[in-house]
Amino acid sequence: MTSIQDLPQLTGQTVTLNAWVQDKSGKGKILFLKLRDGTGFVQGTLFKPEVSEAVFEAAKKVTQESSLEIVGEVRADARAPSGVELAISDLRVRGESGDYPITPKEHGIDFLQDHRHLWIRHRRPWAILRVRDCVERNIVQFFAQEGFIRFDAPFFTANAGEDTTELFEIDLFGEDKAYLSQTGQLHAEAGALAFGKVYTFGPTFRAEKSKTRRHLLEFWMVEPEVAPSNHQENMKLQEKMVSYLVRAVLSECTEELKVLGRDTGKLKPAAEGNYPRVRYSEALEIIRTALERGTLPPNVSPDTQPVEFGDDLGAPHETIVGSHFDRPVIIERYPASIKAFYMQPDPENPELALCDDMIAPEGYGEIIGGSERIHDLALLKKRIEDQGLPQEAFEWYVDLRRYGSVPHAGYGMGLERFVAWVTGIDHIREAIPFPRMLTRMTP
Ligand code: 4AD
Ligand code: MG
Repeated sequence: MTSIQDLPQLTGQTVTLNAWVQDKSGKGKILFLKLRDGTGFVQGTLFKPEVSEAVFEAAKKVTQESSLEIVGEVRADARAPSGVELAISDLRVRGESGDYPITPKEHGIDFLQDHRHLWIRHRRPWAILRVRDCVERNIVQFFAQEGFIRFDAPFFTANAGEDTTELFEIDLFGEDKAYLSQTGQLHAEAGALAFGKVYTFGPTFRAEKSKTRRHLLEFWMVEPEVAPSNHQENMKLQEKMVSYLVRAVLSECTEELKVLGRDTGKLKPAAEGNYPRVRYSEALEIIRTALERGTLPPNVSPDTQPVEFGDDLGAPHETIVGSHFDRPVIIERYPASIKAFYMQPDPENPELALCDDMIAPEGYGEIIGGSERIHDLALLKKRIEDQGLPQEAFEWYVDLRRYGSVPHAGYGMGLERFVAWVTGIDHIREAIPFPRMLTRMTP
């Protein structure tokens, strides 16, 4: 069997392929079948005088999403997006399709989401999910090249890694409780002290009630962790990884980005590196000035409140700072009070943490959160106590500071946030095959 993606190299040849019918048109002596097979799209043509009566009649009856075995000759056609068309000489219906629900007319997003199991056959999800595959593949490649080992963290955990209000609780046969993991970080830290450079890459879970364009209940995160390392090296690695991934998407996904109408000019600066770095305090200034002057990006409300020192940045604030630059910006040294318990204090000002968030441009907001970790035993124990975290559950984590502790650092990037940005889509639910949200558990 030939794949549609191989057809441009096969002009003049007769091929056999398995394909599904996206659409049918034509009249009289000519019929057009829009075909797809997962690897690409091509138009098939049947010209009555060139095929048998039986084949032409069979083709006239095929319905949207029937699966077909097709024989045809590959012909060059300058008007076709891939440069070729298929002159069909024979076809056989392998699986009929009746009343396929997603017709070529416009459908609302709820309807499409209810039919996500079928919707993924269409061109737009095809393009987005292939970009996701490209990103996943290149994440694995990047870390292998950089000498990291992949180190899988458990999905069931006994402790919170991030905000304790966002834990999904699991009942362990009525005897005990566990949680779905919010982050692989704490286990990655154990891995870093064992292997030096590791990364986890898998699903993570957050019971966030917020219904925003940026939040899923289940999302994939890649989390490198390096020992020894520090805040500066951590930011460098983030920039190196993100620019590598943007370059990979730009070179490997040209067709997908075209289908999506993505303005690739806007991604080029991110492919170059040299990401600006601003401190949290400078970010507050950028926000204050933009609000005072009214120089706001189009999707930020003029009623947006400025941020006072000690407040976390909201989505509109991130949009303001992100829109200030043509590539991702790193905001570093947030107040420790709004960040996680494990972050190393800034030696210049212990009220701040040696942490950073990477903010994507064009309003996509935070794609990365990372930090240097507390390596001092007494300080870590104090933080766990101060934050009222269950000490027994963290004993193993504290052990990492008892036996050969060393400064180390790492970060987490949300895969769907990254994919949403590079594909230019406006909701991350389309960046994962089957999104899980407050209002969406099926299909
Ligand atoms: O900033 P966060 O909470 O950081 C951590 O979890 C650290 N433990 C990571 C580490 O240092 N190893 O989450 C990291 C990233 C965010 O920047 C965002 O891209 C993504 O995970 N993220 C979400 N993506 C989709 N839906 C959600 N509900 C998300 N919450 C976080
Ligand atoms: Mg964060």
